Amino acid sequence: VERTFIAIKPDGVQRGMISEVIHRFERKGYKLVAIKAIVPPKALAEEHYGDLKARPFYPGLVSYMTSGKAPVIAMVWEGVDVIRQGRRIIGATNPLDAEPGSIRGDYTISVGRNAIHGSDSFESATIEIGLWFKPEEVYNWQFAHAEWIESKN
Ligand code: GTP
Ligand code: MG
Repeated sequence: VERTFIAIKPDGVQRGMISEVIHRFERKGYKLVAIKAIVPPKALAEEHYGDLKARPFYPGLVSYMTSGKAPVIAMVWEGVDVIRQGRRIIGATNPLDAEPGSIRGDYTISVGRNAIHGSDSFESATIEIGLWFKPEEVYNWQFAHAEWIESKN
């Protein structure tokens, strides 16, 4: 099974986007296997965005994620091709490039307030799920109707 880490950032929470984000993943056929509200400690946000450490916007990015003015809604979603499909549902990093119909395309105008995060590869999904969740916070469960959603034949 494939899993990805999806997080609604504090701006997305402030703007009332929690139900919208969950709706878009759920209606597509993906399965929610972990969820929590969390104000990430600085060390967690820094590690999560560690590959961007050298970028000028990095300090602002970390303080935006950790401010506590709203929590982050951290989630793990599971399903066929969920990593790449999740990125499509979210849309391009810069809202100017995000297609209408994607979350960022429909709701955001600033790259620094783009509302949502999604893992960009299998490797980062594995690392990010491990950073944000303990193993016992992630649930293994099956759709009763799995064959109608996930079967390839
Ligand atoms: P995430 O799903 O959040 O990881 O976004 P992404 O994978 O589409 O983009 P990337 O990992 O390159 O950047 C991570 C986050 O840093 C983005 O989602 C933005 O919030 C922020 N970011 C990226 N580029 C810029 C920028 O040029 N300016 C500002 N202010 N923020 C940026
Ligand atoms: Mg990224």
